[in-house]
Amino acid sequence: MSVDLPIVAAPMAGGPSTPALVRAVAEAGGFGFLAGGYKTRESLAAEISHVREHTEHFGVNLFVPSSASVDRTAFQNYARHLEPEAEAYGIRLDPEPVADDDRWVEKLALLIEQPVPVVSLTFALPDPAAIAALQQAGSRVFMTVTTPTEARQAEALGLNGLIVQGPRAGGHSATFDPARRIDDISTRDLVREVRAGTELPIIAAGGLDGPVAVKELLDAGAQAVAVGTLLMRTDEAGTSDIHRRALTDPNFTETALTRAFTGRPARALRNHFIDAHDAYAVDAYPAVHYLTKDLRQAAAKVGNAQRVHLWAGTGYQNVPEGPAANVIRWLAGS
Ligand SMILES: Cc1cc2nc3c(=O)[nH]c(=O)nc-3n(C[C@H](O)[C@H](O)[C@H](O)COP(=O)(O)O)c2cc1C
Repeated sequence: MSVDLPIVAAPMAGGPSTPALVRAVAEAGGFGFLAGGYKTRESLAAEISHVREHTEHFGVNLFVPSSASVDRTAFQNYARHLEPEAEAYGIRLDPEPVADDDRWVEKLALLIEQPVPVVSLTFALPDPAAIAALQQAGSRVFMTVTTPTEARQAEALGLNGLIVQGPRAGGHSATFDPARRIDDISTRDLVREVRAGTELPIIAAGGLDGPVAVKELLDAGAQAVAVGTLLMRTDEAGTSDIHRRALTDPNFTETALTRAFTGRPARALRNHFIDAHDAYAVDAYPAVHYLTKDLRQAAAKVGNAQRVHLWAGTGYQNVPEGPAANVIRWLAGS
């Protein structure tokens, strides 16, 4: 088996990334990431062992907790605003903002004790000691960045590479400053801007819709291109049924960036929840994630896609089905 195609399976927490997907991507000649986000140390360790039975060409992604504080009044106003929505499902919303570090300390310790070839980090810059410890253990450490300024901040920490994520990407924006206004820019232009200021390896991510875009991103200075949304309907992805169906449902006609579901900007298929609540949403991740979690789960259970976070990048209309290996080869033009 060789890793010879410049295509990376982006980490997708919440179900889509599975050991089977990472393995299939590696077998096709690409490079895959397991998503450590939302998992316990034990379940992440089990996924790593599973992948290791087949390949050493993989990475693990973790969420880095942010130290930003929550505006309680704004949070509670949003909770009140969502109450009628929750009542319809017989759910009581907890107006106390939940703080959570996504078990960062335990999962970091796991990756230091049992190192993997590549670790990618997202959401905030970690303590430099964490990066040094991962590197000393033998991992190459990549940081996800969304602007040239974030790229400079990340580079100053001595990283091995950057994942440059444009705002057309599906799922959460990786920005270190989730309260900022996120203006549209193509991933290609963002890669060019970041490339002008660094010689670090770049993996470009966001809005991929096919092989032409891959070539453009490589020409813009990326060493590899990450694909998320276009893998979500593959055989090996663990995407939920409601999400899988929504990606090809003609009732969804566009994506939107919203804080309504989790309190951090994320790109999703535009649905009722976004239309009704985005204007009231607050910058408070992961508190809003916990606030809306039961409501989203209840909606998913009864098949109501209008109230579920349907993460998707702008390339979603080209989402293929079948084996992930075919998607990787198609994107690589091989
Ligand atoms: C369902 C979903 C879950 C995601 N989860 C993560 C994650 O856990 N960690 C992360 O760094 N990025 C995550 N992302 C962002 C992807 O890693 C990547 O940046 C994005 O999918 C690229 O854009 P595309 O979806 O348009 O290909 C997620 C994206 C999606 C669609």
